[in-house]
Amino acid sequence: MAEPVKKVRTRHFQNAKEQGIKITGLTSYDMLTAAVFDQAGVDFLLVGDSAGNNVFGYDTTIPVSVDELIPLTRAVAGAVQRAFVIADMPFGSYETGPDEALHTAFRFMKETGAHAVKLEGGVRSAEQIRRIVSAGIPVMGHVGFTPQSEHQLGGHVIQGRGERAEALLADAHAVEDAGAFAVVMEMVPADVAKRVTAELKIPTISVGAGPHTDGQLMVWTDWAGLTTGRIPKFVKQYANLAQVLTDAAQTFIAEVASGAYPDADHSYDE
Ligand code: KIV
Repeated sequence: MAEPVKKVRTRHFQNAKEQGIKITGLTSYDMLTAAVFDQAGVDFLLVGDSAGNNVFGYDTTIPVSVDELIPLTRAVAGAVQRAFVIADMPFGSYETGPDEALHTAFRFMKETGAHAVKLEGGVRSAEQIRRIVSAGIPVMGHVGFTPQSEHQLGGHVIQGRGERAEALLADAHAVEDAGAFAVVMEMVPADVAKRVTAELKIPTISVGAGPHTDGQLMVWTDWAGLTTGRIPKFVKQYANLAQVLTDAAQTFIAEVASGAYPDADHSYDE
């Protein structure tokens, strides 16, 4: 009989940090990629509000709503056996205070099967994190570049450079002190991320924060080369899905035109 699959839990994040084992995460927005990434052994899947750019066709994550993310999160959570699934709380669903944040977190936990939620902000979101954690829901923090505030931050700008490193450290500590089980650092200089990782007890997850963190997270469409156009410097493309799909589509068009598809092997007999 096959061994039951051992699900990733928050304690595995903590154990990984303590044992120096790197944690891996990808975004996912649907059941098919979720099942593939889960089977491949990726530790956690984030149903990111980057779905705004990668599913819904918005320019930013700002318009994304809870109602849009709930069905995507349900699809991902329903497709995994091992991976830890994290629901991203979108802009406008937690900022007014702990009550709103808890209400949104309840919706994700009750309506999707996610195992945790993520929200952006350090010091400014600490009370929200504390309230959600006190209700028994694991929270992943997110500091550094926070895409929901991109207009306030002046665009996609690296955070924590020079004397601003201290503010970044304060944000990371605030997230830890509020009870988060892990924190994402996005677009932060590698040396600053190294310092945060050394100071925090909880694991740090890099999105463009260099190699010294406890784990790495990538937006899957960037990572797999499905995103075309400009991608950030930190993104390494592990495949070229845009080219694979272009080649397949062009071959399909040519074969339909020539009559090569469908042949007898792909047609039904009487
Ligand atoms: O929505 C998302 O994909 C994210 C990651 C970039 C951290 O928040």
